Amino acid sequence: MATKVIVGLPGGVEYAVRIGSGLIDGLGSSMAAIPALAPHRRVLVISDDNVAPLYLPRTKAALRAVGYQVADIVVPAGEASKSLDIAHEVWDAMAQLGLERSCVVVALGGGVVGDLAGFVASSYMRGVALVQVPTTLLSMVDSSVGGKTAVNLAAGKNLVGSFWQPSYVCADQAVLESLDDREWTCGLAEIAKSSLIGSDDFFFWLSEHARDLAVRDYGAAAEAVARSVVFKADVVARDAMETSGVRTCLNYGHTLGHALEKALGYGTVSHGHAVSEGMRFAVFLAQRRGIAGSDFAAAQNELLDALGLSAMGMLPSAEDLVEAMVHDKKAQRGEARFVLLSDVARWELACIGRDELVSALRAYSER
Ligand code: GLY
Repeated sequence: MATKVIVGLPGGVEYAVRIGSGLIDGLGSSMAAIPALAPHRRVLVISDDNVAPLYLPRTKAALRAVGYQVADIVVPAGEASKSLDIAHEVWDAMAQLGLERSCVVVALGGGVVGDLAGFVASSYMRGVALVQVPTTLLSMVDSSVGGKTAVNLAAGKNLVGSFWQPSYVCADQAVLESLDDREWTCGLAEIAKSSLIGSDDFFFWLSEHARDLAVRDYGAAAEAVARSVVFKADVVARDAMETSGVRTCLNYGHTLGHALEKALGYGTVSHGHAVSEGMRFAVFLAQRRGIAGSDFAAAQNELLDALGLSAMGMLPSAEDLVEAMVHDKKAQRGEARFVLLSDVARWELACIGRDELVSALRAYSER
């Protein structure tokens, strides 16, 4: 049975996220029922060369079955495809195919494909309709929902992009079975983050089911995805364009997380593992500042352990990490910005300067 979560946006606009097993086979009929995606339209499916052999033929068949005229573009798998060069190739291909403003872009893949296809959809002919079909746990619970699109520059990740909301998100749980363990655990870190910022109810549920999730209980995973999407939909509804500050909470664990990815080399550590370590450091920092107590810190870290997100051993030098953090695009006036939690669902934003960060990182590494 599928779960439907509605993401409400300013101006009364809304879209559905459906979560269930086998949904790709009904993608065409689900889309055709949405007025903005009427079936006479032409569809471009953008995927990558890992995902396409597994799910592209079924996706195209499901779309053709209800009358869509379908083309596809397959980009190389990996972060390097989130570039202006690849976006340019896709725009050129779309123009050569004669796609007009009435076309629909379907993103079939993980975060890289979702961000690239979203960016292309937001800019081709000043914007065409977008459908997200996330194929990783991470993209189901985070990047496919909420409308952030991006490509990377040499100077950093996600430096060029737009807010462009999808008209529909199809989270087919059956595709999770093809994920490797690293991808799986990566998604669990974002689910842990959502529960910690979200609510006692979500956090306690996740703590109870963490060991099942670590060994891939797909029933528990569907519930965890649904709870994470409900949480994210609520945050996006309150701060769609990240202007009021509410959406900032989604960066919990990401300040050190992004710095670790940069300092260790992108791809060396998974995004999820880096964010998990970032949450461990954030709660250490919150304790040092007298914001969080030891019970909360222990409960958070036990959850991460139970999910299989073990603490990292050696970290890069405090100086390298601080350098990356104060140059992050979310830093302000040379200070890194941290989301700190005093307890589950109680967060605040703290700007922290170099000296405090260096000494906290040294203490964290030596603990
Ligand atoms: N992944 C963070 C956000 O959607 O705002």
